[in-house]
Amino acid sequence: MRDKYWSPKGRGVWRYASMLPLKSGVSLGEGGTPLVKSNLGEGLYIKFEGANPTGSFKDRGMALGVTVARESNASKVVVASTGNTAASAAAYAARAGLRCYVVLPRGNVARGKLVQAALHGAELVMVNGLFDKALEYVVTHGTRYAYPLNSFNPWRLEGQKTLAFEVFEELGCPDYVVVPVGNAGNISAIWKGFKELAELGLCRRLPKMVGVQAEGAAPLAKAWERGAPQPFFIDEPETVATAIKIGKPINWPKALAAVKESGGLFVTVSDAEILRAQKLLASRDGIGAEPAGAASVAAALKLKLSGTAVAVVTGHALKDPDAVEISAREVRNAEELVELLER
Ligand code: F0G
Repeated sequence: MRDKYWSPKGRGVWRYASMLPLKSGVSLGEGGTPLVKSNLGEGLYIKFEGANPTGSFKDRGMALGVTVARESNASKVVVASTGNTAASAAAYAARAGLRCYVVLPRGNVARGKLVQAALHGAELVMVNGLFDKALEYVVTHGTRYAYPLNSFNPWRLEGQKTLAFEVFEELGCPDYVVVPVGNAGNISAIWKGFKELAELGLCRRLPKMVGVQAEGAAPLAKAWERGAPQPFFIDEPETVATAIKIGKPINWPKALAAVKESGGLFVTVSDAEILRAQKLLASRDGIGAEPAGAASVAAALKLKLSGTAVAVVTGHALKDPDAVEISAREVRNAEELVELLER
């Protein structure tokens, strides 16, 4: 920590260069996302990570990860992904002139994310299996040939910790920070950010970290409920929130430590609760979240947290257009439109 000091300058992730192990690097203007006071609960704030360049929080970490890949003279990067990491890695690799391989679970990646990875020129590779299988392939084979950018890469987490700094600058240290948990990197990163603020004497009372998992993909939350010391790994996770459809989170020890140290908790939300929160957030707050992103809001509403709570909405609604039901009326002429408008 001695090499770190608080001296925010400029905007976005690189505003916190004095707190990062790198002082500059690849950037698409990531970070600096809106913190919006919610209409859904007293003291509830939404940190809208969908406003990042590729529409998810992954961009914060990718800025640093891809910078290191480039500086270590890698020509290729590789990720396993439920979609957002793929979209982000593809864009940042394109920006840095690196080739990008994304290993994806066939049939389990939302359309918007596939479109992004393809558009940015990544090589899309499908595996027959879920995310956990894709990650296993990348860890055992991919890393020999390409620079890995999954969240076991510490630079990624360094970038992602800047969310804590942004919340701190606008709100101070809140009572709770509610984070959807998949591979369990982000909650660990955000906790690291708050702890560093405390070490510098800036944040006196640290927030409680609340880790949210979908009921059918809850290896950490289910273990937490029963007081088990280790997650209950799942072979066949199931949830509408495909971004967090993960049975064996690689960063589980860090996430568990974050929740424990902070005095927080893990909680599950059902798919119905996730979709209800997605709708409420969209219709009452004007914020469009993909299902995994709305999981934090579902949890905040379920837990009825007192004090100040920040729900991290991790990804944009456009990522997963198929998760939203669309109904439309047809009018055959102007009179019918007028009639409709007069109701
Ligand atoms: N929310 C969204 C929208 C995500 O895409 C992810 C993870 C998470 C939450 C959970 O974050 O893994 O750090 O606990 N998506 C990864 C991916 C797995 O491949 O895009 P985490």
